[in-house]
Amino acid sequence: MSKRIVAGNWKMNLTAEEAVNLFKEIEERLSFSEVDVKVFVPSIYLQSLTGLSEKITIGAQNFYPVSKGAFTGEISPIQLRSIGINTVLIGHSERRDLFGENDDFIQSKVKSALENGMDIILCCGESLETRDAGNEVKFVTGQLSSALSIVESASMKNITIAYEPIWAIGTGKTSSSQQAEDMHLAIRNWLDSKYGPTVAGSTSILYGGSCNAANAKELFACPNVDGGLIGGASLDAETFLTIISSF
Ligand code: 13P
Repeated sequence: MSKRIVAGNWKMNLTAEEAVNLFKEIEERLSFSEVDVKVFVPSIYLQSLTGLSEKITIGAQNFYPVSKGAFTGEISPIQLRSIGINTVLIGHSERRDLFGENDDFIQSKVKSALENGMDIILCCGESLETRDAGNEVKFVTGQLSSALSIVESASMKNITIAYEPIWAIGTGKTSSSQQAEDMHLAIRNWLDSKYGPTVAGSTSILYGGSCNAANAKELFACPNVDGGLIGGASLDAETFLTIISSF
């Protein structure tokens, strides 16, 4: 059985005070449940938030896939581990499109994170152009095929997949639950063909892209949607908690 997960991606939002207040409010009002809750916070807040909650996993939005060295401004997986962070986001479309992270680089990040014993949420998703051309499944499975090319079945327990259609991110335009389910099923079938039914059945596949308190229930009711990766709607405690309780 795949785990139910709701993860917030705070992106480059919130001042230090706002971040602590938001985190504390979510922590105080969250009850232990069947749902794994994670928040990916700006790197400068990782250390202050880590260890504040047993209910919420804190993850890093980014890292550089080298142990140490002359890489001004970057953070290594070893440094993340040294402050207790062992969960990372990889392959987000904003990193791909705005910061030039290509498939090879994403593959090296997956390798590096696994070598350092980290859990990964691996993002994939197509542009509107690709969807309009009818190539969305080929494109998304191609992204996964590249990112996971060196990953063995045994390491898949550390990997969660997040399907985030680019046209739905931050646009208020959510994919329909049918579109999400169709893609999630295609991803699960692809996992089955590469790793077999056990891995395919136990890998969580999250939906991301304008998921909010109003549409989460319908999306999470889809048989192959195991939860969500939430951007804007994770910045408000009430909304985020409503999404968490939408299964
Ligand atoms: P929004 O929920 O703001 O559309 O962002 C989704 C996302 O990119 C999460 O990683």
